[in-house]
Amino acid sequence: MDNTISELAASIRSIPDYPKPGIIFRDITTLLGNPRAFRRAVDELVQPYAGTKIDKIAGMEARGFILGGAVAHQLSSGFVPIRKKGKLPHDTVRIAYSLEYGVDEMEMHRDAIQPGEKVILVDDLIATGGTAVGATKLLRQIGAEVVGACFVIDLPDLGGRRKLEELGVAVHTLVE
Ligand code: PRP
Ligand code: ADE
Repeated sequence: MDNTISELAASIRSIPDYPKPGIIFRDITTLLGNPRAFRRAVDELVQPYAGTKIDKIAGMEARGFILGGAVAHQLSSGFVPIRKKGKLPHDTVRIAYSLEYGVDEMEMHRDAIQPGEKVILVDDLIATGGTAVGATKLLRQIGAEVVGACFVIDLPDLGGRRKLEELGVAVHTLVE
């Protein structure tokens, strides 16, 4: 690991048995609160897309909003929130999904993306991939071209990265 990546890894806090027994929760609030680590994380997340025209960043509630907003600013892209059900006021598309510690439904505004627009998904972490796979399906349903997905953390034992790659999405992650 180079210095940047080991510094990022060290800025993430691990909480055992949260939110359920047996889960080690990777808490990025400590990374976000560290000015140097936050800037580095955003710089590293955007790196593969520099110089590419990306129309929209789609960020998953809630931690994907923080990172996705910063990535959108850096790439001069728009930002589209993918929210837990019941939060968006206009006409939505919705999908059920499961994640490492539960099940839920997510939605986005049907008119948030024009057919053919190039979109990158952003979140803090990929574990089982349930969230990112669900988001990819929603985006494709409304005609987006999902050109990539990026995450600060990959939990490789849970297989999410592979599932997303099998859907044809190029995945970029910073730490395991
Ligand atoms: C976490 C994380 C990802 C998702 C990853 O979000 O921020 O969105 O889980 O898990 P998966 O790969 O198994 O789907 P969570 O649903 O806990 O929401 P939060 O950001 O609102 O805490
Ligand atoms: N989302 C799914 N699994 C997680 C974990 N272990 N830590 C933080 N967020 C998660």
